[in-house]
Amino acid sequence: MLDHLTIVKHPLVQHKLTLMRQKDTSTASFRQLLREISLLLAYEVTRELPMTQKSIETPMGEMEAPILAGKKMALVSILRAGNGLLDGVLELIPSARVGFVGLYRDEETLKPVQYYFKVPPDLKDRMVIVVDPMLATGNSSAAAIDLLKQAGATNIRFLCLLAAPEGVERMGKAHPDVPIVTAAVDEKLNEHGYIVPGLGDAGDRMYGTK
Ligand code: URA
Repeated sequence: MLDHLTIVKHPLVQHKLTLMRQKDTSTASFRQLLREISLLLAYEVTRELPMTQKSIETPMGEMEAPILAGKKMALVSILRAGNGLLDGVLELIPSARVGFVGLYRDEETLKPVQYYFKVPPDLKDRMVIVVDPMLATGNSSAAAIDLLKQAGATNIRFLCLLAAPEGVERMGKAHPDVPIVTAAVDEKLNEHGYIVPGLGDAGDRMYGTK
């Protein structure tokens, strides 16, 4: 069973994260690094996918070989920054079903407001991996997971790049059954709800907006 919080300390992950944090890293490099790092994080978050055996024939003979079991997993991106993580994870798991939750953060209250929700059917039978690069206050993530549970999901993991202690705590209280996988937990949130030292606004950095 994955712990409530897994920090992926692999040297490649940590190295790429440092490059992403640097403020003069270009949009193109940021996007490429996010893609690379998401492959490595996807490896960790899928550790417990159920397996079965299948009879196959190699050129040398027959064998019982391990293969993924059950329904295809569902990846759910919290728009819009989640899409940056989603692309890399989908590269590793191309058969996954994909859902989107649109929540924007009211900059005054820092509370999530829903504007879009579209997810694959039969969520109750799938492992669901929710992706959002920044676990800041945890309000959007907790709200997205509330919606997914209402839609039937019972086996959920949360994948992010960076987390704030406040977000980890909020998720632990709201959804203690949902393991979090991240590359780092930073020092704190600032008064605007940004992670410090963090990497700034992940969506702006990956799409070159401001
Ligand atoms: N969202 C971001 O993109 N960055 C933060 O630091 C916090 C929330």
